[in-house]
Amino acid sequence: MSGPRVVGIGGTTRPGSSGERLVRAVLAACEDRGATTRMFGGADLAALPHFAPEIPERTEAQRDFVAAVRECDGLVIGTPGYHGGVSGLVKNAIDLLEDLNAGTRVYFDRRAVGLVVSAAGWQACGVTLQALRGIVHAMRGWPTPIGIALNSAEQRPFDEDGRLIDNALTRQVALQAEQILFLAGAAR
Ligand SMILES: Cc1cc2nc3c(=O)[nH]c(=O)nc-3n(C[C@H](O)[C@H](O)[C@H](O)COP(=O)(O)O)c2cc1C
Repeated sequence: MSGPRVVGIGGTTRPGSSGERLVRAVLAACEDRGATTRMFGGADLAALPHFAPEIPERTEAQRDFVAAVRECDGLVIGTPGYHGGVSGLVKNAIDLLEDLNAGTRVYFDRRAVGLVVSAAGWQACGVTLQALRGIVHAMRGWPTPIGIALNSAEQRPFDEDGRLIDNALTRQVALQAEQILFLAGAAR
């Protein structure tokens, strides 16, 4: 049996998106522990048409995204705090996963979902993380106990090449990866 498959979703279209960097850091920590990963970053999410429940046709990008989530064993979702909540870009991708509403494993069923929020203040970090947890619960997923929040107005956790250099965040990234893979192993 091959290693667990972990899908990362998130970030913004902004070059150097801090949220996308953090999601990628969690995926890298999962790879270090034997997982294979796939990332859908800001540019990928921007290529997904606006979800419309009455339109059954799907673009290739939409099909690819839904299939990757259907086949995965765990997820990482990262969003900026935009106006006190999850960004439209990230929520649009999540809404497309309504395509997983049937079958033996609907939505995020039996999958751990690591959550990452980047916002310019602690208040938006907290409320957005809480909102994201509510979304994952609604979709039958298991938010990991470790949620990661970055206050981009106060913290500078990356070096000039975009590598995570903050010790506390690096520990949280490792813990979150372990928690995602713990449940992935149990569910398999
Ligand atoms: C449209 C918009 C709305 C935002 N709303 C908030 C907000 O309500 N609270 C907050 O703390 N930061 C807010 N921000 C700041 C972003 O959350 C912050 O810059 C974040 O780190 C961006 O993530 P990124 O580095 O992945 O692009 C907002 C930014 C934008 C562009």
